Amino acid sequence: MPAVRRPSGAPGAGAVARATAGRPAVPGLVDPSGRTAVDLRVSLTDRCNLRCGYCMPPEGLDWMPAGELLDDDEVVRLVRVAVEHLGVTEVRYTGGEPLLRRGLERVVAATTALRTADGRAVEASMTTNALGLDKRAAALAAAGLRRINVSLDTLRPERFAAITRRDRHADVLAGVAAAAAAGIGPVKVNAVLLPGVNDDEAPELLAWALAAGYELRVIEQMPIDAQGAWSREGLVTADDVVASLRTAFDLEDDDPAARGGAPAQTYRVRARGADPTSAPLGRVGVIASVTRPFCEACDRTRLTADGQVRSCLFSTSETDLRALLRGGASDDEVADVWRAAMWGKAPAHGVGEAEPVTASGFARPSRSMSAIGG
Ligand code: 5AD
Ligand code: SF4
Repeated sequence: MPAVRRPSGAPGAGAVARATAGRPAVPGLVDPSGRTAVDLRVSLTDRCNLRCGYCMPPEGLDWMPAGELLDDDEVVRLVRVAVEHLGVTEVRYTGGEPLLRRGLERVVAATTALRTADGRAVEASMTTNALGLDKRAAALAAAGLRRINVSLDTLRPERFAAITRRDRHADVLAGVAAAAAAGIGPVKVNAVLLPGVNDDEAPELLAWALAAGYELRVIEQMPIDAQGAWSREGLVTADDVVASLRTAFDLEDDDPAARGGAPAQTYRVRARGADPTSAPLGRVGVIASVTRPFCEACDRTRLTADGQVRSCLFSTSETDLRALLRGGASDDEVADVWRAAMWGKAPAHGVGEAEPVTASGFARPSRSMSAIGG
């Protein structure tokens, strides 16, 4: 079960020194594979008001008790340490569902006011299911939220209800539209395609996104659901998605060198048979976490809602910053422990080899997606 968590205490100074043997004396979040993390994902809650089958069981999860969650001031303090001491330049708020966090606007405003040690601004973004966003988009835009990723797997209300177990499709569409109207953009729409459920819908989703000026990103389903129901068999792969899109559009690969640490391979989209030198209609992204992992370019560090650093979505261990905060540690001490945690980052997650799971070296993370943050 995903809720199993290691009992963890704050590491002492000796443990930090051991964990950082060989680490160069640089301020940033470097790891032994030569990567530097500048993109922080912060989960603000493990709760959600949807129940997507690839994420959660119908009854929800054993939610984190309130006292274990970081409060807003604790979140802002850790984000400040990440930005001012560790060189983080992008902060993405996730969940569960980050809109379930009442203090979200305040946390975003505090984030966008931060500057790195060398004076760079910080970009704040959010990954959300957009429920209730229609009422909060303007305030979030005013707080400095620049970009948003909305999870939407289908344009058909009955399919939406089947996938998410909630009849809220219209509310999601209203939320996305409100975000765009408030000037939060570009809006990216994340879709997971499920065999026999919505795997025929990629062209339709792309046509809709292009017409609205959103960027569609199709994500391969990852083995990080709470129920452990994922199987490699039947996975709708990036190749399947591209083939399906090419039945309706011409796709031209964007230069992979321009991708940097971004997980999506992007394509310029034109109508079928259009002049290849004409202006594209827009772009589409495909995130092949399973069939083409992008670990070597990963620039992410993650913080769970209860204050644990994870160097990877698929980490099997985590480092407790909450205990440090609540134990009275200084910003410098917190920064040192965070650096040590990232120095322990594995070179790759091995999800593509998850068949059979035990023989491959790939181990499921001890928490599911909603408890880590996407
Ligand atoms: N595989 C791939 N994507 C997932 N998401 C949630 N669970 C999974 C999974 N098992 C997506 C959501 C959201 C983003 C945070 O991750 O749809 O868009
Ligand atoms: Fe909620 Fe996102 Fe999980 Fe769906 S995938 S249940 S929207 S946290």
